[in-house]
Amino acid sequence: MARLTDATRGRLLFGGDYNPEQWPEEVWHEDVRLMREAGVTLATVGVFSWATLEPHPGVRNFGWLDTVLGLLHDAGIGVCLATPTASPPPWLGARYPETLPRDETGATVWYGSRNQFCASSPVYREHAARITEDLARRYAGHPALRMWHVNNEYGTVCYCDTSARHFRTWLRARYRTLDALNDAWGTAFWSQRYDSWEEIIPPRRAQYLHNPAQRLDFRRFTSDALLECFTAERDILAAHTPGIPVTTNFMPLFAGQDGWRWAAEEDVVSVDIYPDPAADPSDLAGPAHGALVADLTRSQARGPWLLMEQAASAVNFRRVNRPKPAGQMRQWSYQFLARGADGLCFFQWRASRQGSEKFHSAMLPHAGERSRTFQHVRALGHELHTLSPRLAGTTVPADVAVLHDWHAWWASEQPGRPSSDESTAYPRLLATWHRALWEQNLTCDFAHPEASYHGYRMVVVPQLYLMTDAALDRLTAYVRGGGTLVCGFFTAVADGDDRVRPGGVDRRLRELLGLATVHEWWPLQPGETVPLDNGATGSAWSEDLELAPHGGPSAPAAEILARYGGGELAGRPALTRARRGKGTAYYVSTLPDPASLRALLGEAARAAGAGPVLPQAPLGVEAVRRGEALFLINHTRQQVTVPLHHPHTDLLTGRAVTASVTLGRHGVAVLTPTPKENRTCAEGVSAP
Ligand code: GLA
Repeated sequence: MARLTDATRGRLLFGGDYNPEQWPEEVWHEDVRLMREAGVTLATVGVFSWATLEPHPGVRNFGWLDTVLGLLHDAGIGVCLATPTASPPPWLGARYPETLPRDETGATVWYGSRNQFCASSPVYREHAARITEDLARRYAGHPALRMWHVNNEYGTVCYCDTSARHFRTWLRARYRTLDALNDAWGTAFWSQRYDSWEEIIPPRRAQYLHNPAQRLDFRRFTSDALLECFTAERDILAAHTPGIPVTTNFMPLFAGQDGWRWAAEEDVVSVDIYPDPAADPSDLAGPAHGALVADLTRSQARGPWLLMEQAASAVNFRRVNRPKPAGQMRQWSYQFLARGADGLCFFQWRASRQGSEKFHSAMLPHAGERSRTFQHVRALGHELHTLSPRLAGTTVPADVAVLHDWHAWWASEQPGRPSSDESTAYPRLLATWHRALWEQNLTCDFAHPEASYHGYRMVVVPQLYLMTDAALDRLTAYVRGGGTLVCGFFTAVADGDDRVRPGGVDRRLRELLGLATVHEWWPLQPGETVPLDNGATGSAWSEDLELAPHGGPSAPAAEILARYGGGELAGRPALTRARRGKGTAYYVSTLPDPASLRALLGEAARAAGAGPVLPQAPLGVEAVRRGEALFLINHTRQQVTVPLHHPHTDLLTGRAVTASVTLGRHGVAVLTPTPKENRTCAEGVSAP
């Protein structure tokens, strides 16, 4: 398997999407000159070039790409060469309408934009394979080629007849018999029993609520169908260029792909992120989201990974698209670097003059090389160059794992639940719990619930509504073996088929938590809160819990850490802790206010032997260790001074830092402990 190091050659990558087909050749020369000036080491070429590469069916127009790759190579810039299959040319859709996707109502999704392909279409797949094969043949052995970028942000959903047939094939492989499918989907309900495979269709527009298990399987199928497209192209590329790693860029915390399965098929995992610079700067939701996406991508990769796309300044897809104030692009870039990225790339190199993204920022904006944005890009490129020898390939240690599963997410989104309020939405819960860890600099990884996470001191489950038997057995063994679990509400309610577990919550989890039963789920109204008797406030959800009686030395009764202090459940347990085997299991039956959730997780982590990276860092200062480096990132609006207990060296300036480091707005410091023999008496130091 090719690795990222084959692409980076041990350096941090810096670059972006490069679309030279939008420009005359003389501009390419200027591009290469300015890329060199900005310290670009990787250009992603050809993401949307299909219609240029294959202007008529079967005709190849590769000459321009030869020239571009040659120019980049001569300038010492590596190429991440894309297969152009995210955006088939109009001729494909016009000649073969069956390659175009259809929505839930059967309406065709036309060409004229991008991503208009049906993942199940053999005709699309055949044309995608041909252009991929020809690219691989032509550029195998090209000295500029560092990496392959397959397609772009896979995620198209299709409900057409071809997809329906493919869905049936997928279902046959999963269930073997129609009886097993009818059983798994619970089709006794509402007379939904299928009499033959041919009757089964995607969950197209229907009169009322769909069968939730059918919808869940359709999401699984859609992810798998897209993944087949990816692996088909990957295999072609790998056959021609076995030493060149293959990636496809994910969208951040995206619901449309089972990210664990996808990541396992990639040589290099990469992600795109576009936070809103206009978000309220006094709220840390933006940087918290960035940290989550970085932590998740690192965890998916379990090795080197890349930030494939970010904006140099403004995007163009929001209602109001604000540029990034000075320092913010650098600051957000450092967040990804701190959390493990081995490359920082952008969409895109040069701003387009035409097309629907002409007002999206670029590394080289319309205002050109004198622009503020280009200057910032260039400065970042040079800083990466300085940091590269110390950081490339280094890892981020974490003591805490957050369990996350796309299938649980999908199952939790079906209609007809106790609450469909946004406050109970899976990605929101995941983000809230992750943020409570992030705000106190408790570095965490994410883990699949069936993965091996026994090495972590603490495991956090914000919510896993659906849990398989394998996942429950692993969790039980983890706690009994000495692990600490903090588990959020409405977890292990459904099995892998979205069938409610006997008793409403799985018996294994109840035993672990010391619960006799959950009498009722008691969701709260939007905006409603409930007081807890420890001073905390709950929102979103509450539960009527009955604790199990003392069950002997192996199952002592759970302690009540807090009770509901008002509302219908006043006096009933809200937060509990049970000792099980050598471990401890906390249950959190509501969503505590942010400070209380932070405190709960902080105390549980401390008791489990996990601590914050820098306990003295104030709220809003992100502290992360990567390799031997300590990153400090100021997300507050003010200047902050962070005391340090040991002398450090600032890797960007080479200066000594002893007592403290002062960070301005958007300020960042990358420090490394100063070896004893080099320590001098230095003052507190300011970092840019
Ligand atoms: C995505 C795509 C890019 C571009 C950017 C714009 O990340 O991959 O092609 O459209 O969004 O923000």
